[in-house]
Amino acid sequence: MTISINVNTVERSFDIQPGEVLLDVLRREGYLEVKGSCHSGDCGACTVLLDGRPVASCLILVAKADGHAVTTVRGIGDQAHPHVLQEAFVKNGAVQCGYCVPGAITSAKALLDENPDPTEEEIRLAMDSNYCRCTGYEQQVEAVLDAAAQLRKGDKK
Ligand code: FES
Ligand code: FES
Repeated sequence: MTISINVNTVERSFDIQPGEVLLDVLRREGYLEVKGSCHSGDCGACTVLLDGRPVASCLILVAKADGHAVTTVRGIGDQAHPHVLQEAFVKNGAVQCGYCVPGAITSAKALLDENPDPTEEEIRLAMDSNYCRCTGYEQQVEAVLDAAAQLRKGDKK
């Protein structure tokens, strides 16, 4: 079966097998910035935006994404044009091994799109499905607060 998904603003067609999940198809097709770990919806490493909402791509049958838009962390920003969240994660020491970071930034992006001035508690709640074994979470919360403040000032987009 062939399906179409808009990935990072590019229309793509994918040949899929019954039962395949979005995470596995994205990685097979080269979107290696989307990480997999638990494959059971627990760790948040595989978070992408599906029509702007954060989802665990390991839990989404890829057929359900047919005709929809997926944004990976590379669609949020890349090395040449990093998003303010990505810069803030680096600046605030929120990247150590880095494995959780694509998912964490994706969840944070969804939060800031809806709520440009979140409290620390709202940030922790929005990112409570994104496990991080390295940072102790403090730096990631600081990074999101920092990015939100910069976005509100209009310094960055
Ligand atoms: S790999 Fe999807 S939530 Fe862990
Ligand atoms: S930076 Fe290593 S798991 Fe988060």
